[in-house]
Amino acid sequence: METNVNQYVHQVLQSHITPSTVAIDATCGNGHDTLFLANHCLHVHAFDIQAQAIQATKNKIPTKNVTFYHQSHDTFLTLFKPQSIDLIVYNLGYLPGTDHAITTTPQTTLTSLQQALDILSIHGLISLTIYIGHAGGKQEAETIENFLCTLDKHDYTIQKVTYFNRKQSPYVVFIQKEK
Ligand SMILES: C[S@@+](CC[C@H](N)C(=O)[O-])C[C@H]1O[C@@H](n2cnc3c(N)ncnc32)[C@H](O)[C@@H]1O
Repeated sequence: METNVNQYVHQVLQSHITPSTVAIDATCGNGHDTLFLANHCLHVHAFDIQAQAIQATKNKIPTKNVTFYHQSHDTFLTLFKPQSIDLIVYNLGYLPGTDHAITTTPQTTLTSLQQALDILSIHGLISLTIYIGHAGGKQEAETIENFLCTLDKHDYTIQKVTYFNRKQSPYVVFIQKEK
């Protein structure tokens, strides 16, 4: 059976999570990623700009280890100290089943990602699931990749995992902070 990209990301995240892991879900959407993180991490900070996404995620989470932020993910530096977060998960694009015009955007994602690198702990991991099939998706992907190419290879290990034989398939970028 075909592995779903989100299942694949969860498998990779699982191998990095310990009982003391503090995580951010930068785009909580319908709550699938937040639920996964809440079940495995010490604490999760979940962000979304849409009230319905925050509510959908709250409805899914039976545990008390999630803090919700109905605000954009380009505000990390106002909330978290440098190197205080172990795992940051981005699932970009739009909320399935809703207005496709409300989507992550190149500039906001880039600003958020720059802040994410600061608050990420040493050996912490960022995952970005990137969608290129919708309007603006390719531009967002290009903006992210151009930025990542500027990062020093001694500071960050950056991998891209893509499906060659799936047209317009989402792909994943993992960024590990080395020092
Ligand atoms: C593909 S969905 C996320 C799916 C989600 N992780 C899940 O497991 O169901 C993308 C989400 O990003 C949210 N979003 C868009 N721009 C955002 C921003 N600047 N800050 C935080 N969330 C944003 C959208 O509202 C949408 O809910």
